[in-house]
Amino acid sequence: MTAVLITGTPGTGKTTASKIAVKKLKSSLVAVNDLVNDENLYNGHDPEKGYKVVDLDALSRMIGITLEDSNDDHLIIEGHLAHTFKNDDLVDIVIVLRARPDILRKRLNKRGWSDSKVQENLEAEALDICTFEAVEIHGDKVNELDTSDIDVKEVADLVVEIINGKKHFPPGNLNFLEDLYG
Ligand SMILES: Nc1ncnc2c1ncn2[C@@H]1O[C@H](COP(=O)(O)OP(=O)(O)OP(=O)(O)O)[C@@H](O)[C@H]1O
Ligand SMILES: [Mg+2]
Repeated sequence: MTAVLITGTPGTGKTTASKIAVKKLKSSLVAVNDLVNDENLYNGHDPEKGYKVVDLDALSRMIGITLEDSNDDHLIIEGHLAHTFKNDDLVDIVIVLRARPDILRKRLNKRGWSDSKVQENLEAEALDICTFEAVEIHGDKVNELDTSDIDVKEVADLVVEIINGKKHFPPGNLNFLEDLYG
């Protein structure tokens, strides 16, 4: 079984691209958001930000069980916390979807989020937070895919090529800091 984690800042297109990719691969898809909600993997409540805090240890355990129980040839796990899965032995490929902050801003503004929540996510994207965290745990299994100038179909095609071992996009080639602050 090939286990794939697709992660990235909210709005980078994980859910959209993963849904197309699994159809091409005839594989299964698990959304971290569904795991968290269905299994109630919360650890309390952030009083300042007003949302529930995910229990990352419980999420890691649940992702491990999901991978171990799977009979699929490929299983994609997508969500902005997917890369936090600790048991790297069970992981084959990690793909961090990236998008320039100007593009991400337009997508996140459509969600009706507060300015501070949008800004927080744009900063996380400009500072490569997901990539940094993913590499810390999963090393050279990590790919970074810039989706800024390609449509969702192209993103899904590249995801499939990465999973099939035809392409590899090592992290560290993107710099979105100037886009946000320059
Ligand atoms: N490559 C792309 N080009 C243009 N629009 C895109 C692209 N990828 C995603 N979008 C659009 O951006 C929005 C966010 O996409 P999506 O919901 O897949 O993001 P996500 O990474 O799953 O976000 P979240 O982490 O919040 O679940 C959607 O409206 C989607 O249609
Ligand atoms: Mg999503």
